[in-house]
Amino acid sequence: MPTAVVTGANRGLGAEWVNQLLGDGWTVHAGYRSEPGPLEALANSSLHVHQLDVQSKDSIASFADSIPEQIDLLVNNAGVMDGQWGDLTEIDDEWALKVIDINALGPVRMVQALYDKMTHRTLTKVAMVSSLMGSIDDCHMGRSYAYRASKTALNMFTVAMKNEAADGQITFAILHPGWVKTDMGGDSAPVEISDSVRGMRKVLESQTLDNSGRFIQFDGELLPW
Ligand SMILES: NC(=O)c1ccc[n+]([C@@H]2O[C@H](COP(=O)([O-])OP(=O)(O)OC[C@H]3O[C@@H](n4cnc5c(N)ncnc54)[C@H](OP(=O)(O)O)[C@@H]3O)[C@@H](O)[C@H]2O)c1
Repeated sequence: MPTAVVTGANRGLGAEWVNQLLGDGWTVHAGYRSEPGPLEALANSSLHVHQLDVQSKDSIASFADSIPEQIDLLVNNAGVMDGQWGDLTEIDDEWALKVIDINALGPVRMVQALYDKMTHRTLTKVAMVSSLMGSIDDCHMGRSYAYRASKTALNMFTVAMKNEAADGQITFAILHPGWVKTDMGGDSAPVEISDSVRGMRKVLESQTLDNSGRFIQFDGELLPW
């Protein structure tokens, strides 16, 4: 059975990735930053739960060391919102750097740390959970400055890595999950968590080396950069 890694797996979209993958017979290594939460109650011999803070190289290294098998899928899902500052005079640079560190560099660190766990003989798929808010073309208002910039940076890191990674049989999908009913998305969000993850998984099914690096929504719509 194939093996997946999911970051930020204790709630929201990450927890749903874990549920759906386990339901389809995958072995899943699920990372949580602070509390395992519902992961603890999921009695499943195919689920392995690890503490994982994507800001910490040490945490990522011990996570990678504890994974015995090769992985077929890495879901870089962990992410944080910023302070939703009201205007540009309120941007807090320490906070902004933290958001960029988690959302843009966290996934890059995960790819680096797990590179040797990818087979390089068969295709390994990497889901970069980004956001439409990282689209420069689609940015018509301010606020969420650091969140937007972090996802734009994630998109560029991914596109810049994709050719080199293709030599190692790694393909990337840059995914917008939609506006989803999670702690981050809030109750007014129109998309259900299960529909979002089901859609992103369907997108991944059509992922190849040739379409690596596409910026694509959970329903398959290609997005502007
Ligand atoms: N919901 C939406 O409408 C929406 C839209 C576009 C994109 N996204 C993206 O989708 C992804 C998941 O979002 P969500 O809505 O499920 O958010 P969420 O409910 O707020 O969950 C975020 C998850 O990320 C984890 N996390 C945060 N910082 C971390 C770190 N340093 N190391 C490891 N884990 C960390 C959190 O762990 P803790 O529980 O420890 O805080 C939590 O498990 C994010 O990348 C987000 O930007 C969401």
